[in-house]
Amino acid sequence: MKKLEGKNVVVTGGTTGIGLASAKLFHDEGARVLVTGSSAKSVELAQAELRDVAEVVRSDTGDPADVRALFERVKRDMGGLDVLFLNAGIVRSAPIAAFDEKDFDDVFRVNLKGPFLVLRAAIPLLRPGASVVANTSMTNGIGMLGGGIYAASKAALRSFVRTAAAELVEQGVRVNAVSPGPTDSGIIAKGERSATEVRGIEEYLASKIPMKRLGRPEEIARAALFLASDDSSFMTGEEIVADGGMTRV
Ligand SMILES: NC(=O)c1ccc[n+]([C@@H]2O[C@H](COP(=O)([O-])OP(=O)(O)OC[C@H]3O[C@@H](n4cnc5c(N)ncnc54)[C@H](OP(=O)(O)O)[C@@H]3O)[C@@H](O)[C@H]2O)c1
Repeated sequence: MKKLEGKNVVVTGGTTGIGLASAKLFHDEGARVLVTGSSAKSVELAQAELRDVAEVVRSDTGDPADVRALFERVKRDMGGLDVLFLNAGIVRSAPIAAFDEKDFDDVFRVNLKGPFLVLRAAIPLLRPGASVVANTSMTNGIGMLGGGIYAASKAALRSFVRTAAAELVEQGVRVNAVSPGPTDSGIIAKGERSATEVRGIEEYLASKIPMKRLGRPEEIARAALFLASDDSSFMTGEEIVADGGMTRV
């Protein structure tokens, strides 16, 4: 029996990385999947890669009008929703002393306001038994040099998951988080960094992980699948850390 047979799923930020791997896995498990991305380029590439796997829609998670349009479409095309993966996120790194205000606003807009806008719009469509999964980050529980603003946005998202879980219990909807450690998704290469710099960061991060390697998007997708499916039917408000032991070992 497939774990998401007949389920309707929306993955925000599903055009690359962890969201893309999750879209493929959820499809393999029997779901009808719709993914979003904000840039025309990632949407176009994903439309080619996910042909016959998922619908790919351009929708900026931090833009209320885009989010409204997205869920009008979900309502029209899918009717109801069984799984919502709040996955879209961005990283900006710099020490607090040098952190740019626009970067601060961008990070909180995508990583916190986005999940709020999307969940608010999705609530009327979430059917009893539905599961919401947010993608937080293991940085939300530690102090990480240069990662403070990103980590703070993910700590706020962790808090948001708890309250959402409390508010949606009556509706029969569970809300949990998957909290990845450094994962080889390409996210580190997205800033204005040279290939050498990216390699240096990846090697540094791998050296800090007891398993001595980065995670793979497919490994995070499997943790998200556990939370999305009925396998986690007695869990809500929880966060699963998948970080190769970085914060626990
Ligand atoms: N990789 C890691 O080491 C790691 C660790 C912990 C947590 N995470 C979290 O995992 C999630 C996925 O990240 P990833 O590593 O898979 O990175 P990624 O490959 O960069 O994927 C990010 C996805 O989000 C989309 N996105 C970005 N801004 C968006 C917006 N405003 N509206 C809609 N979609 C948007 C991107 O598409 P566009 O480019 O088209 O916008 C892309 O599909 C993020 O929340 C991230 O914080 C990642």
